[in-house]
Amino acid sequence: MAKVAIIGQGYVGLTIAAFASKANKVVGLDSNQKVVDRLNQGISHIEGVDSAALKAAISSGSYEATTNGADIADAEIVVIAVPTPLDKDRKPDLSFIESACKTIAKNIKHPVLVINESTSFPGTIRNVIKPLIYKLSLKKFEHEYAISPERVDPGRIDWDQKNTPRLYAGLTPSASKRTHEFYSTFCDNLVEVSSPEVAEAAKLFENTFRQVNIALVNEFAQIAHALGISVHETLEAANTKPYGFMKFNPSAGVGGHCIPVDPSYLAHVAESLGVPATFIERANEVNLEMSKYVVSRVAADNGGSLKGKKVQVIGVSYKPNVADTRETPAELVIEGLKRVGAEVTWHDDVVGTWHGQDSSALGGSEIAIVVTLHDVVDKKAVLASATYVFDTTGKLPGAKGL
Ligand SMILES: NC(=O)c1ccc[n+]([C@@H]2O[C@H](COP(=O)([O-])OP(=O)(O)OC[C@H]3O[C@@H](n4cnc5c(N)ncnc54)[C@H](O)[C@@H]3O)[C@@H](O)[C@H]2O)c1
Repeated sequence: MAKVAIIGQGYVGLTIAAFASKANKVVGLDSNQKVVDRLNQGISHIEGVDSAALKAAISSGSYEATTNGADIADAEIVVIAVPTPLDKDRKPDLSFIESACKTIAKNIKHPVLVINESTSFPGTIRNVIKPLIYKLSLKKFEHEYAISPERVDPGRIDWDQKNTPRLYAGLTPSASKRTHEFYSTFCDNLVEVSSPEVAEAAKLFENTFRQVNIALVNEFAQIAHALGISVHETLEAANTKPYGFMKFNPSAGVGGHCIPVDPSYLAHVAESLGVPATFIERANEVNLEMSKYVVSRVAADNGGSLKGKKVQVIGVSYKPNVADTRETPAELVIEGLKRVGAEVTWHDDVVGTWHGQDSSALGGSEIAIVVTLHDVVDKKAVLASATYVFDTTGKLPGAKGL
């Protein structure tokens, strides 16, 4: 049973903590006191992490949460699972990683294995994390370093930490071996690659593949509409091909911490090497512009102007069945509606509270735009909630939409 510290107890960190604590002693360090207090009461804030299992892990002594860096002092393995957002210029913001490195340097007093699970550009473990911990540490320990990028899909139950293949690579053979030992305590399928850079790049490419294909289908949705054919029927038709085609669905845009963000990490590294990242940049633009397209379609169907019209946006999380609103396209749709003078409300019982405002009751507007459709939502009630309903999800038969 290894002593493991996991820095960051959000979607990734808490999910790993829940699995790792079945066979290891885990300390979950998070800078958010509220999150830590609730975790120590056995209340999970992450879809897919069961509060009952969390309580059981706490009672058996295999899990505790803390805000105190000193509590990770006796860890043998430290996993970094902190945010890696973009800054205001859409460039990688490694400030959370830097802060996690500071915590490690300050509190760890013996050699440990440091594993990074936060998504970042190739070279992060070798050229950023390792030298920074070394620089910030008063005593210069020979820590070992590895990368194992996270593939969790919050809310998903068919693919979890146990059965999703996990990439990993250490900076040294010994780091790789220890990383394998740790993850094999809860993951059945470990795939070693030849260098941390390959693992880091693979993670970015996985999400870039999704970003580019989503942009392509979003562009195609606009072409299909201009042609006067159903994009969904056409995609279903294309999907009858048993090879060489993979179906992606059009939407109001992309959201979450991964698809709108990770490709820009790849574009950043490409730029620094003097290589154009044309597809990535254009895909990003197409996805960001989808909100404008949705607003223009709704306006066109409603006399050409939404000025003074009451519009309700239904579903504001970035994908169904989660409460996560990070980078949600609903935000851009709402901004676009307000820009053209619409009076906007939003409804989402799964999200509940957003930007300090509670979800309004369903209905009460002449126009509704469905951005995200949770499974728990009553489709008939949505269809009846306004005289005109525009669906961006393709899951609401009877509504207008993409
Ligand atoms: N959410 C996903 O589906 C997903 C999937 C794969 C990879 N990732 C990657 O995993 C990383 C973490 O993402 P997430 O979704 O778990 O983020 P999150 O925002 O859900 O959680 C991050 C947590 O880290 C805490 N934190 C921030 N800085 C800290 C610090 N210095 N010390 C201690 N705690 C700190 C925050 O309070 C927060 O609770 C990112 O790099 C992300 O790109 C996320």
